[in-house]
Parts: sequence; structure tokens; C-alpha cells
Amino acid sequence: MVFERRLAEKEIQVIEKIIDFVKEKHHRSEGHDYSHVLEVCRISIEIAKKIKDPVNPFVLMCGALLHDIGRINAPNGLFHGIDGAARANELLKSYIDDAETSKRVQQVIIRHTPESRILPEATEEKVVFDADTIERLGFIGMVRGLMGKSGTMEEIIEDRIHKRLQDYAKLYYPVSKKMSKKAYKETVAVSKTLKKDLVKRAKEIHEITSYKLIKQE
Ligand SMILES: [Fe+2]
Ligand SMILES: [Fe+2]
Repeated sequence: MVFERRLAEKEIQVIEKIIDFVKEKHHRSEGHDYSHVLEVCRISIEIAKKIKDPVNPFVLMCGALLHDIGRINAPNGLFHGIDGAARANELLKSYIDDAETSKRVQQVIIRHTPESRILPEATEEKVVFDADTIERLGFIGMVRGLMGKSGTMEEIIEDRIHKRLQDYAKLYYPVSKKMSKKAYKETVAVSKTLKKDLVKRAKEIHEITSYKLIKQE
């Protein structure tokens, strides 16, 4: 299985409103834009269809669509899981009259990122965590990871390789590893090539500064 049940008509209407909301809010968001949010939602559905644990489709989709809402107008994004849950609570209150469901969606948002320091527990929380991690493992995710980082090129690339290795190991479901294995390997290969080029360049620069090239003429 898959999903516990089909979405109710009323739930579909709420999801459509949330899609419009995130579309507007994430429109100009640097890196974590609207396409990131929708892709995480799509991957979440794909994982949910392949695992045995029952998944609440409404909690899953609301959580996936709102998972990065805490990044809006928050440049460094630290604690965006916790901030996002508070923002989502306000929004959900106007759409649904069910505190328990709203709470479950908020937990998905809080626990989708290791920055919140609270590990996912419920199935929907683990699925969105994996989906967000899988999206990061591809090239687009890697480019996003390089955006706006401070430090030397060597430091940034080293940090990316390290983080991607950790990300892959943290995936909850074997199916998530299967789905992202190719992208993960490609990303690590590109990072290693970049690293090799940097080492080569450092050596070449050294040859110039040591006047070796001129002396050999
Ligand atoms: Fe996030
Ligand atoms: Fe995300």
C-alpha cells in the first residue's frame, strides 16, 4: 500500500489553496523556489506509493508543500523548520477545523530538516525528509548548495561532498536510496572532478610562482 485512503473533495480544495499560496510565496525565493517545493511533493508521493507503511495523503501533501515556508524572507534559513511550522499553523487554521491534522502537518515541517534537531518519527515525516534529501542529491540541488556560500572554492566543494555523503546515508527508506543512487553517484563524481581540478590548478600556479617554467626555457 500506499495511501490510507483517497483525498476527500474538501481536502483537494485545501491543497489547491495551499498550492496557490506556496506558488506566490516561493515565487522569488532564492534556490528553494516553487519548483523545489513541488518536486519534493512529487517525490513524497512516489515514495509513499512504494513503501508498506500506511500514509495519510492529506498530511503528506500539506507537509510537503509547506515544508520550506519558513525560508521565505529568512535569508539564512536557520530554524526554518520551526519557523515554518508556526507560519503553517496560522494558514491551516483558516483552512481546516482539525487541530490534530494541523499538528501532524506541523510535525512534518519541523522534522523535515536536521537543523530542527528533532528526528522524524511518523511515516509522513520520514517520507518528506527523504523526498527533500533526494531532491538535494541531484545536480540542481548541488548548484543550489553552492549558491551564496562564503569561503574558498576548495572549502565549499569539500563541504558539499561531505554533506552529500551524509545525506545519502541518512535516508530512511531503502526505496529512497534506490531512487536517488544514480543522482548521488553523479553528484559525488562531479564534486570529485572539481576537487581534482582545483588540486591540479594549485600545482600549476606553484610552478609559475617558483619560476620553474621560465628557468626551463
Ligand atoms: Fe528545508
Ligand atoms: Fe526543502
